[in-house]
Amino acid sequence: MTAHRQFARHIRPVAAPRRRASARLWPARRLAAGLPGTVLGGAAAPRLPSVAEVVAAQAPPVPLHCLRPVTLEAASRRFVGAFPGSVLYAVKCNPQPAVLRALWAGGVRHFDAASAAEVALVRGLLPAARIHFMHPVKARPAIADACRGYGVRDFAVDSADEIAKVLEEAGGRPVGLMVRLALPKGGAVWDLSGKFGAPPAEAASLLRQARAVAGRCGLTFHVGSQCLDPGAWERALLLAGSVIAEAGTAPDVLDVGGGFPVPYDDAVPPPLDDFVAAIRRGVARLGLGPSTELWCEPGRALVAEAESVVVQVLARKGDALHVNDGIYGSLSDAGPPGFRFPVRPVAAIGGPWMPFTVFGPTCDSMDRLKEPWWLPAGIGEGDWIEVGNIGAYGQALRTGFNGFDRALLAEVRDGPVPVAAARPGARVA
Ligand SMILES: Cc1ncc(COP(=O)(O)O)c(C=O)c1O
Repeated sequence: MTAHRQFARHIRPVAAPRRRASARLWPARRLAAGLPGTVLGGAAAPRLPSVAEVVAAQAPPVPLHCLRPVTLEAASRRFVGAFPGSVLYAVKCNPQPAVLRALWAGGVRHFDAASAAEVALVRGLLPAARIHFMHPVKARPAIADACRGYGVRDFAVDSADEIAKVLEEAGGRPVGLMVRLALPKGGAVWDLSGKFGAPPAEAASLLRQARAVAGRCGLTFHVGSQCLDPGAWERALLLAGSVIAEAGTAPDVLDVGGGFPVPYDDAVPPPLDDFVAAIRRGVARLGLGPSTELWCEPGRALVAEAESVVVQVLARKGDALHVNDGIYGSLSDAGPPGFRFPVRPVAAIGGPWMPFTVFGPTCDSMDRLKEPWWLPAGIGEGDWIEVGNIGAYGQALRTGFNGFDRALLAEVRDGPVPVAAARPGARVA
């Protein structure tokens, strides 16, 4: 059997995103619901090829996404084992069916959905999943569908109007209302303050209202994505404590949100245990009873390291490379957000390692990736580079801008691409 035929069954096209009306708009988050899923995990996992084997066999002419089911399952087992409460996976982060199934295989039973489509996706794939609708601002039909059609009971709210909306659309069914508390701007790489959440005094009033009308009520917050400081959760819990004291009623649920970080080239976070310890300390200070449920909503921490994308060099101009994926594709976080993804050549290339400027494939001059990429000096047109840790908000944010709407997906056996500190030849600056 040729290598091509041997690995062909592991490769499939990524569902083509809809074209965007305006080239300049920042890409919308998109469900990759069209991707066929594969039952993953445990002894049933097929023998998967390596990234190098897939590239050698396929010579992929478009970006090749490489999904690592073993890494996914291990990350979920580690997180579920370490967190002293319920782990709700934030579906928006990577909604591929194969990802959701691998997380389930790794022990994740709760899912944080933020749209009607995400609710339907999770329920269709995982009938026994517990789905929580944690977007604080929802369309009425989305609430009605989730509650009446899919058995969703818990809804995030951050205003009195949203509480009324949820109650009306639930049509008398018992609901849980989770009040989203606004946090001051913190040190996370991706700040999530400012758009959602009620300030402390209003959150206290909403918690009282929720207690009066809902079967159960909770308090939820988000410290921001890729938050490297465990102390951020302790500070947020201190604020939550003042809200609870002012409300005069204890929540049934305390949800410490997402934001748990993963390693990138320029940031290796403290271990997960440090974050769990900070959360334990913060919760203990609140003196809540043992019946209070503790939740969290990780996205990035569960999936980032489990996916990479292999890009091909289209042209080299001195120390600049043009590659076939960029900020309008799966590398949007390497644009203005400035994430430093780990990169490595797929095959051995000669020459000393040197820093390169890297551009994406579109005509937009903004399509330039956080630099430099450290690669061997001999790299040139046609070579493939693997960009690691794009599992969080990578494929989920891919657009078809400028006609670059094709990508491939393969499941591979490799571990995550090592970050700079553990990669020979690599430097950060
Ligand atoms: C409400 C909510 N929960 C959880 C997450 C996941 O955050 P992260 O991927 O940083 O863990 C997000 C991210 O946008 C969010 O908005």
